[in-house]
Amino acid sequence: MAEQEFGGKIVIVTGAASGLGRATARAFAAAGAMLVLADRDASGLDATRAELEAAGNTVTAVPTDISDAGACLALGPAAIAAFGRIDVVCNVAGAFRFDHASQITPDVWDMIHSVNVRGPFFIIQGAMPHLLESAGTVVNVASASAFLGHAYLTHYASSKAALVNMTKSLAMEYMQSPVRINAIAPGGINTAMTATPSIPDGIDFQLLARYSPLRGSSEPEDLTDLILMLAGPRGKSIHGACINADRGITAG
Ligand SMILES: NC(=O)c1ccc[n+]([C@@H]2O[C@H](COP(=O)([O-])OP(=O)(O)OC[C@H]3O[C@@H](n4cnc5c(N)ncnc54)[C@H](O)[C@@H]3O)[C@@H](O)[C@H]2O)c1
Repeated sequence: MAEQEFGGKIVIVTGAASGLGRATARAFAAAGAMLVLADRDASGLDATRAELEAAGNTVTAVPTDISDAGACLALGPAAIAAFGRIDVVCNVAGAFRFDHASQITPDVWDMIHSVNVRGPFFIIQGAMPHLLESAGTVVNVASASAFLGHAYLTHYASSKAALVNMTKSLAMEYMQSPVRINAIAPGGINTAMTATPSIPDGIDFQLLARYSPLRGSSEPEDLTDLILMLAGPRGKSIHGACINADRGITAG
């Protein structure tokens, strides 16, 4: 049998209870990885764990609220306790909501940024000693919103832009190490996040039309090979990049 791309590798995936995180966990499992799955949705997380275990994969689930920096710092040590090494960290979990800029409260602003950029930073910080040992990789999931002003998503777009620069800044700081750190920036994905978004009253739909994907939305499975490519040896020339995978939304 051919050697599997991630055979014997330990991969942390956040957001693993749903959508792109669950699809990413499935793809790494199919490629031979052992998984540490994190999400705050304990039942969704358990469903992903049970599905992968039933298929013969080795998985541990760590219910984690990524808005809690201490819980994020603890994720790397939890992976070490379970498996003794970390090869890949995939920060997929994200928090998303539409709000009029005039109605964003400090708590909502902080929640969005804590899940989308502060949490991923501390997950990486907690895992970094082990990534340095394993010559590991990081893949962060940003968004096309990082590159476009986005009405009613001031907090979300700001947090994803910060995540892109956090990715690049860490890539610079760890330039002389073997660790590779990258991001992807999807456009629309058919997941729970966008299936039934809560739209506040009084928004101007003309301002949202700019972001309608003319080439449609992606399925989560459309994006997982890009994540695996960045996480593994096929991505060896890519460091400090954020790769747009948005079906053209940011083309012009
Ligand atoms: N769906 C889209 O159109 C789209 C577009 C661009 C980028 N993204 C990004 O893709 C990533 C995956 O989102 P998705 O589309 O799969 O959505 P999803 O709603 O299916 O999954 C998001 C996951 O993040 C988890 N999560 C949210 N807050 C959390 C917290 N505080 N602690 C732990 N887990 C938390 C949720 O429980 C859920 O399992 C996100 O980072 C999102 O911003 C999504």
